[in-house]
Amino acid sequence: VTEEVRIRRAQEGDVKPIARLAADLVRMHHAVDPGRFLLVDRVEEGYGWWLSRELARAEAVVLGAFRGEHLVGYAYGTLEDRDWNRLLDAHGAVHDVYVETSHRRHGVGRSLVVAIVAALEHMGAARIVLSTMVGNVGAQALFQACGFRPTMLEMTRS
Ligand SMILES: CC(C)(COP(=O)(O)OP(=O)(O)OC[C@H]1O[C@@H](n2cnc3c(N)ncnc32)[C@H](O)[C@@H]1OP(=O)(O)O)[C@@H](O)C(=O)NCCC(=O)NCCS
Repeated sequence: VTEEVRIRRAQEGDVKPIARLAADLVRMHHAVDPGRFLLVDRVEEGYGWWLSRELARAEAVVLGAFRGEHLVGYAYGTLEDRDWNRLLDAHGAVHDVYVETSHRRHGVGRSLVVAIVAALEHMGAARIVLSTMVGNVGAQALFQACGFRPTMLEMTRS
């Protein structure tokens, strides 16, 4: 029997388990293209430090997905100002969405995206923009299913 997944705002006590998942996300990207995606030493610690700071900011939202007490995924987004370089007016940005491997394809990712979109819209975002690695077709399918359309293609030369 699978316990229901509950999504709520992350608190200081959630930082460590979230940072562990975030580190997986960092390693996953680095493994695919190390010339583009960084990997630092002690990435859990570094991410935890960053997340603690973000939790204190009114423009940031961090959500955790929990099965009982167990964290199975998280999402992180922020409100951003107008960006002339990107031709992008004030917007909400989704930076991370991650679901633990063994809990995938049960709707947790979709619930996290729906919840972070709702939170950013509630905070005033008129549009929401995110980036996903070009080869990450699973994530792209999830985001398209949640109403996102492809808009920019980043290119890197090493
Ligand atoms: C992408 C990710 C968050 C999806 O989480 P999830 O809990 O498995 O997603 P859901 O079960 O809610 O999937 C919702 C829909 O998205 C699509 N989808 C999700 N994963 C998919 C995959 N691997 N392949 C194809 N479609 C996929 C499907 O349409 C799915 O609906 P369905 O299961 O009814 O077919 C998860 O695979 C993950 O954490 N991946 C590694 C991190 C990552 O890539 N994050 C996003 C970039 S920041």
